[in-house]
Amino acid sequence: MSSGGFFEGRRVTVTGGASFIGSHLSAALLAAGARVRVADDYSSGSPANLSPILADVEALELDLRDPDAARAACAGAELVFHLAAAHGGRGYIDSHPVQCAENLLLDQVVLRAALRAGTGKVVFASSACVYPTGLQRVPAPDRKLREEMVGPPYEPDGMYGMAKLCGELSLRSLVAEHGLDGVICRYFTAYGPRCSESHAIVAMIARAFTGADPFEVWGTGEQVRTWIYVDDVVRMTMLAAQRLGGGQAVNVATEERHTVREAAELVLRTTGHRARIRTNPDMPTGPMYRSADAALARRLLGYTPQVDLAEGVRRTAEWYYTTRDRDLTARLLDRLVVERGGGRDEPWRVQGDDGAVAP
Ligand SMILES: NC(=O)c1ccc[n+]([C@@H]2O[C@H](COP(=O)([O-])OP(=O)(O)OC[C@H]3O[C@@H](n4cnc5c(N)ncnc54)[C@H](O)[C@@H]3O)[C@@H](O)[C@H]2O)c1
Repeated sequence: MSSGGFFEGRRVTVTGGASFIGSHLSAALLAAGARVRVADDYSSGSPANLSPILADVEALELDLRDPDAARAACAGAELVFHLAAAHGGRGYIDSHPVQCAENLLLDQVVLRAALRAGTGKVVFASSACVYPTGLQRVPAPDRKLREEMVGPPYEPDGMYGMAKLCGELSLRSLVAEHGLDGVICRYFTAYGPRCSESHAIVAMIARAFTGADPFEVWGTGEQVRTWIYVDDVVRMTMLAAQRLGGGQAVNVATEERHTVREAAELVLRTTGHRARIRTNPDMPTGPMYRSADAALARRLLGYTPQVDLAEGVRRTAEWYYTTRDRDLTARLLDRLVVERGGGRDEPWRVQGDDGAVAP
């Protein structure tokens, strides 16, 4: 890890550290020499995600909407990576606006706690959903979402995007008025081991795993996305923590674009599952054309994502096929694709990542 020296001995808190991305980030910070505290309520994150590192991190089970809990989470931390959120894929965020609105509260409480604790820097996990949806309605192959495109009049993607936008603006206000340092990482559709079925790539792998035929794809299949593998998300987040400040926003994204249909075909090829693809335009699909510009990240972080979609899908499918129970997954899949997934009880997971059988 190139940023190893920077993190050596540093006290860091990862809110939502038991999450899909947070658990990988916590492990990488630990490997880079940081003293890691994870604060999570296990509402979608899971203790099983932490099992490979549980003995080496301080794990606090807390609801961070409670100011006392947020204070305990931030106490003594030089860096706070704020990833905790009511979050899921398209199926979740479109059908759970009230839960997503809770992120407004969560972010305010955590940012205030970090300020009061004298935290040196907050790294805020924001999202591509802060970008104006009007820029993403029609295919425009040359239009890539650049960091400065988020501005008035704002037009974020649903309540989830609105809350992330308010989190960004709140962090910037604290930077400007109170001297809290901060960085905004705008994650574009991440995937990889531990990602839930509410996200398209893992939903498709789950459909292949359970033998679905026809193989349902939400929307027309022509929606464009730039999927980024979780290891690249983690590396870029750590580099952003190390190199950026002052409320700077940066896309954590790849410029490798694919339609959802192409991704479905890749999943079928990778898993060897033969099925007829059936598109379903009645299901939630999100913007038609979401394509990231990664130039600022290349320049400021000196980093280009290393794992392409073919390799990322291969690794993710391998993880999925070795950790899930087929019959249970088949029974639960309709629910899993619209819920947050994870949580303390994951009955469909037969093994932890370290090979241990989960409780
Ligand atoms: N996965 C993506 O593609 C993606 C894209 C854009 C942004 N993000 C953001 O990145 C972060 C991590 O995403 P993820 O995919 O790992 O999501 P996730 O759902 O796995 O993680 C959210 C974590 O926050 C925890 N949490 C939720 N509410 C909490 C509360 N009140 N108190 C304490 N903990 C709480 C959950 O238990 C979970 O561990 C989130 O902020 C998410 O909004 C993710």
